[in-house]
Amino acid sequence: GAPADLAGRRVVVSAGGTREAIDPVRFIGNRSSGLQGYALARVAAARGAAVTLVAANVALPDPAGVDVVRVESALQLRDAVIEAVADADAVVMAAAVADFRPVAPSRTKIKKTGDEPEAIHLTKNPDILAELGERRRAGEKSPSVIVGFAAETDDVLANGQAKLARKGCDLLVVNQVGENLAFGTPDNAATVLVAGGEPVEIPRGPKDDLARVVWDLIAARLV
Ligand code: C5P
Repeated sequence: GAPADLAGRRVVVSAGGTREAIDPVRFIGNRSSGLQGYALARVAAARGAAVTLVAANVALPDPAGVDVVRVESALQLRDAVIEAVADADAVVMAAAVADFRPVAPSRTKIKKTGDEPEAIHLTKNPDILAELGERRRAGEKSPSVIVGFAAETDDVLANGQAKLARKGCDLLVVNQVGENLAFGTPDNAATVLVAGGEPVEIPRGPKDDLARVVWDLIAARLV
């Protein structure tokens, strides 16, 4: 069986991908399935943690024994995560959060009028992971371990190290995107970048295996 090394801990995991409304029937979204975030939540619960899973548009059943909060947009995901981390020991941001959202979603369905396609004006979403790091730096009550995910296609280590520092997290799980890895597939492979430590390679394997290694690294850092 799984070790009970997370017993008595509260953890928050975000999963899936946000949808940013264009009008009542259309949105800007991404290809995240939520499989990796759900694997992280399942493994943490199996190891004894009290888990809040903030799920954005995930078509998977709720994992047993996990408190699931369903959201749609980046702004909703932010509010749910900020509320859930208030008394948490660790947070893992596995969700794919849209960087931008339409400034003013139309309240009615946009029609095909005229010859010119209509432009969709975008505005920046808050960076939730960076905000978690900032709140901790500012001395607010925060999880002692903050973990981000990043999909990188090139210069994985250099881009990842810069992102780890910029976002102020403790671990950054850098996915190798492509070749049947990451989005929507059962397998994953990653390099975990560690603030003030050596990177940890996680070879290709089931998303549960990656989740176990991530929780091992988190458990070792919990105070
Ligand atoms: O900057 P990038 O999108 O590559 O960073 C990915 C990490 O940051 C993920 O952990 C993701 O959940 C988080 N993120 C966030 N808020 C955003 C964009 C990304 O929390 N607006």
